[in-house]
Amino acid sequence: MAADVIIGAQWGDEGKGKIVDALSEKYDVIVRYQGGNNAGHTVIIGKEKFILHLLPSGIFHKNKINIIGNGVVIDVNGLVTEINELKSKGIKISPKNLIISENANIVLSCHKQIDIAREGKKKIGTTGRGIGPAYIDKYARIGIRMRDIFDDDILKEKIKETLFEKNFILKNLYNYSEITEEEIYNEIVNHRKFLKPFITDVVYEINNLFKKGKKILFEGAQGVLLDVDFGTYPYVTSSNPSVGGVLTGSGIDYKALKRVFGVSKAYQTRVGNGPFPSEMDEQTAEKTRQRGGEFGATTGRPRRCGWLDLVALKYACILNGITDLIITKLDVLSIFNEVKAVTHYIYKGKKTDKFISDSYELSKCIPVFKTFKGWKTDLSNIKKYKDLPLNVKKYLEFIKKFIGVKISFVSTGPERNQILKV
Ligand code: IMP
Repeated sequence: MAADVIIGAQWGDEGKGKIVDALSEKYDVIVRYQGGNNAGHTVIIGKEKFILHLLPSGIFHKNKINIIGNGVVIDVNGLVTEINELKSKGIKISPKNLIISENANIVLSCHKQIDIAREGKKKIGTTGRGIGPAYIDKYARIGIRMRDIFDDDILKEKIKETLFEKNFILKNLYNYSEITEEEIYNEIVNHRKFLKPFITDVVYEINNLFKKGKKILFEGAQGVLLDVDFGTYPYVTSSNPSVGGVLTGSGIDYKALKRVFGVSKAYQTRVGNGPFPSEMDEQTAEKTRQRGGEFGATTGRPRRCGWLDLVALKYACILNGITDLIITKLDVLSIFNEVKAVTHYIYKGKKTDKFISDSYELSKCIPVFKTFKGWKTDLSNIKKYKDLPLNVKKYLEFIKKFIGVKISFVSTGPERNQILKV
């Protein structure tokens, strides 16, 4: 009996969707525990490309239970659209294979407006999906939760409460138009009937499933370096993608947790603002971006590209007790004669191997690189780890030794089967 976790060990976009989909075979239950539809988990099945924003990436497998935990913030319209789109493509979704926590908070249009308005003042580079403002309401104890939407009196009361300060902020601070209670009510009310059968008490469900011996996989969204507590604050998201978020975002018994898979690209990317010590020069970044399709799955924004930052990866492993590393997108680096990775920083004139999560201080760190010979080989058809070019293996061996954590899988392309067990 065990529950395992897959987390992004970088700034998100590590290829978690593909990995969760691939590993789902071995699990009975797949759980999203934080974030919202700022996430974009890409899964390619045959010729079809799916991008999941709220649904767990186990949804494509038969006989799996997918859970959206209390820690997720849910855009109800986005969720219903996502479910219907997948259903129209033949994916079966019903309360038998999808359950949603009654305690998950809802993202409203006013959250998106405030998110966008705030970006005009302090540019974090958010996805504009209202994620930060929705979590603010949760912690201000004025959030609307899934359980609140089915009783008209409760819902109307909650809408009044949540709009009270927001309209003041929108109108007076940002010169936006006010939003009426009716507008918010209408956003939700149309989806109530559809959503009702999916909503349940996840604490009992998930712990019962665990006690029955079901294997559970937690699917993190974003990445450790975007964690509101441990990431490059303030250039972070508003939730805990780190392993700590699993407990608070699902209610699972802490004793259930066993393996933590940390997913990292063979290089580094970041969307949005914030320090990025290993960022490539624009020409090299553009080559990587084109080759790796490094454009946001949710916003389409070009991702910033850099070399693998081993200082940051080691920090992610220490912080999350990562037991297994999964290195993705090795094929992207096949275009380079040489590949680099950061092993140290110079901070205030001194060499350090410690990651500094404060954005201002991190922006002052000068990266120290180690250079590796490239492999200049197409990896896409390689089926076994042992058949990888020697220089790829040397690169991976260095990562493993430097971090002190085993690499369990590597991924060599976007397809479901382009994953090699180490
Ligand atoms: P927010 O989560 O929309 O508030 O955005 C905060 C920061 O997290 C921004 O830098 C976003 O680009 C980043 N971010 C949010 N979600 C993702 C994701 O799924 N992948 C990568 N970056 C993300």
